[in-house]
Amino acid sequence: MNILLLGSGGRENAFAWKIKQSEKVDKLFIAPGNAGTAMLGINLPVNINDFQAVKKATLENNIDMVVVGPEEPLVNGIYDFFTADSDLKNIPLIGPSMKGAMLEGSKDFAKNFMNRHEIPTARHKSITRETLSCGIEFLKSLNPPYVLKADGLAAGKGVLIINDLQEAEKELSMMLEGSFGKASEKVVIEEFLTGIECSVFVMTDGKSYKILPEAKDYKRIGEGDTGPNTGGMGAVSPVKFASKKFMGKVEKEIVIPTINGLKEEGIIYKGFIFIGLINVNGDPKVIEYNCRMGDPETEVVMLRIKSDIIDLLEGVARENLAEKALETDSRFASTVMLVAGGYPGSYQKGKVIYGLDDTDGCIIFHAGTKTKNGLTLTNGGRVIAVSAYGKRMEDALQLSYYNAAVIDFDGKQYRKDIGFDLR
Ligand code: AMP
Ligand code: GLY
Repeated sequence: MNILLLGSGGRENAFAWKIKQSEKVDKLFIAPGNAGTAMLGINLPVNINDFQAVKKATLENNIDMVVVGPEEPLVNGIYDFFTADSDLKNIPLIGPSMKGAMLEGSKDFAKNFMNRHEIPTARHKSITRETLSCGIEFLKSLNPPYVLKADGLAAGKGVLIINDLQEAEKELSMMLEGSFGKASEKVVIEEFLTGIECSVFVMTDGKSYKILPEAKDYKRIGEGDTGPNTGGMGAVSPVKFASKKFMGKVEKEIVIPTINGLKEEGIIYKGFIFIGLINVNGDPKVIEYNCRMGDPETEVVMLRIKSDIIDLLEGVARENLAEKALETDSRFASTVMLVAGGYPGSYQKGKVIYGLDDTDGCIIFHAGTKTKNGLTLTNGGRVIAVSAYGKRMEDALQLSYYNAAVIDFDGKQYRKDIGFDLR
């Protein structure tokens, strides 16, 4: 089979690494990819939000399956574009329909979906400019801190957590006036939940599902979870508190009602569901849904899947996922993200990356890189994810950290405390 993978980050490099191991794969193409994916397949210079360009690349390269990495093309309807096109409709695309992608594309849609299907989540109210006074009343009924979420996609920056009531009221007005553009024309106000978070990944063909290894990511730039949010500074899998009992509750109270809810509402979903969870005194509650895999979680989850990923994804496409077996690796996996100096604020690109060939005992995934004149250069805020296996979490992390020190580029920074809250 020929596979086309869409995206250019560490998640896509991890997918490419796993897809490449499949005996079913002849050629792997990545659009647009990065310097890491170029070592596993053929990078294509295609804008993945230009569906006509994706179509051209699909047909020209005799693609048998398209795997979508990031949310944007999914929220923009790439699944529906494929099924409506007579040349593409028989080429499976892994990802939800546009309606299904609204689980990520609209926080209001996601909250109402959870309420309809009695899926545990924080109490909420959705507010528009017309209902601002209801929003202020609702804020007054909550205890601080206050959680305000832009309804639409806001590149991971649309959530504000505010301690002071007056400030929250002011911020709410500003959001509704467009401080996050169209994304905050509607704002979801939520009750604040206290607990430890983890990410659960579900692969579904719309009828049945497989729960993939769970992971925990570390979003803040600073050690001890301090400072501004980033795309993710590292991850580990498995997560100690995600015990059999806890995951049993996740399956019964969240995964099954989600899959059944999609089915009942006639929402086509053949892809990944990423459930951001919080453990509130042993009870899982949904913080958010995403319509894709997580980044950097994929950089540990792929290490822990033993089965052929393309065989599983064929099950998704053919709606016979129930007949496939998911085999997982019981070892721990960790990843540590090397990021550019200044990130998540402004940062420079184009720095030469040294030491990539001197690493030992780890798996290097490129997140933001490119090649020029035979050199590998930084090309994003998140640059390299250093993944490793270990018998214990500490062993995996030790290998990630040993190699994080071997790789170097001007301005390199990374968190030294990934996994600190799970020891
Ligand atoms: P989201 O984009 O919805 O994942 O929110 C970003 C981050 O804000 C989450 O990872 C949580 O750390 C935090 N957060 C979101 N909603 C809540 C909530 N209701 N209670 C506590 N923390 C939250
Ligand atoms: N790691 C969080 C995300 O991918 O959204």
